[in-house]
Amino acid sequence: MRILLVGSGGREHALAWKIRQSPLVEKLWIAPGNPGTAELGENVPIALTGLDALVSFARDQAADLVVVGPEGPLVAGLSDRLAAAGVRCFGPLQNAAEIEGSKSFCKELLVRYRIPTANYRVFSELNPAISYLEGGARYPLVVKASGLAAGKGVTVASEPAGARQAAKAMLEDGIFGAAGRTIVIEEYLQGAEVSAFILTDGRTFTQLELCQDHKTLLEGGRGPNTGGMGAISPVPQVSERTRDSIERQILLPTLHGLNHDGRRFHGILYAGLKLTPAGPKVLEFNARFGDPECEVLMLRMRSDLLPLLCAAAEGTLENQEAPEWDPRPAVTVVLASGGYPGNYATGHPIEGLDAVAQGRELQVFHCGTALRDGRLVTAGGRVLAVSALGDDLNSARRRAYSAVEQIRFPGMTYRRDIGAEAADALEALR
Ligand SMILES: Nc1ncnc2c1ncn2[C@@H]1O[C@H](COP(=O)(O)OP(=O)(O)O)[C@@H](O)[C@H]1O
Ligand SMILES: [Mg+2]
Repeated sequence: MRILLVGSGGREHALAWKIRQSPLVEKLWIAPGNPGTAELGENVPIALTGLDALVSFARDQAADLVVVGPEGPLVAGLSDRLAAAGVRCFGPLQNAAEIEGSKSFCKELLVRYRIPTANYRVFSELNPAISYLEGGARYPLVVKASGLAAGKGVTVASEPAGARQAAKAMLEDGIFGAAGRTIVIEEYLQGAEVSAFILTDGRTFTQLELCQDHKTLLEGGRGPNTGGMGAISPVPQVSERTRDSIERQILLPTLHGLNHDGRRFHGILYAGLKLTPAGPKVLEFNARFGDPECEVLMLRMRSDLLPLLCAAAEGTLENQEAPEWDPRPAVTVVLASGGYPGNYATGHPIEGLDAVAQGRELQVFHCGTALRDGRLVTAGGRVLAVSALGDDLNSARRRAYSAVEQIRFPGMTYRRDIGAEAADALEALR
């Protein structure tokens, strides 16, 4: 098969690594890719915003399947354009991807289908928002840009001043442009965060393994939110029963709701959840794999991913076996540029990567790297995702962190506690 993978981050490097292992692959292109994906296939210099160029490339090269990694092109309608050009695409059509592209739409859908989520209000004008924030609102609460804001559009506020400032920055100063012209203000939910995924063709679905991202920059849940500083899978604190109730009360009714609304979803439907004392509740839905969750999932997936992607794209998932998973846990630790998620410098040389012995149990996925005069340099906020499997969570952590210690670049920052809370919880159960 001839595959075009769209994207350039750690998620796409992990997908390329996994897809490459399939005996069905004849040719793999990655657009635009990164130095990591260049080792696995052919990078094609087409930007994520170049929808026409992506469609032409896929058609001209007779790609059998286009796999879309990030949300941007899906929300912009890449899947629809590929369908119109007769090219199979793994990733939802625009009207289904709206579940990620518009948080206000997502909330409305969740409430209409009685899917547990935080109470909320939607505003598109500042004055009513401020009246609410200074009047009846209970704190802490969360202010969110409704549209895509690359993981930066959410503020948790413990008192009115911070909430007002966030609302003003979005609605009046336009810091997120059109994405912040509508905002969602919602109740703060307590509890551990988990990421749940289904792979679906719209009718049949298979739940993937649960993951836990570590959203904040600093250890112990402190500091600003990021795109994700590390992940683990599975999540040992989550019982089989909770996992079932996530499927029954959240994933399935959302898929049914989308179908019922004429927005058949195919691809990866990703629920960001809080495990509250009143049961799991939805923070948001995404229309693609999480990054860094994809890195741990690909390390743990034993089955060939490619037939599943094809079946989801063509509507024949019922003929596929559910994927098999390595029972061993996986951990990924993100190495970020100093200053991220704010401003950071790029172009710093990355040292020590050659010394890391990579294999089935340890992979360093590239997130934001570039080659300059043949040297690997930093090129993004998140730079590398050091990912490891282990016989237990602590050995996976040890393996990942000993690789981390071999890698250096100026300003390199990372969390030392990825998976630590889960490891403590396991210890307490013993
Ligand atoms: N209602 C909420 N209660 C508590 N924390 C929240 C709430 N909504 C969002 N968060 C925190 O903010 C992060 C980002 O919010 P999310 O809705 O997932 O937006 P995005 O991923 O688009 O930035 C979440 O991962 C979670 O840590
Ligand atoms: Mg999120």
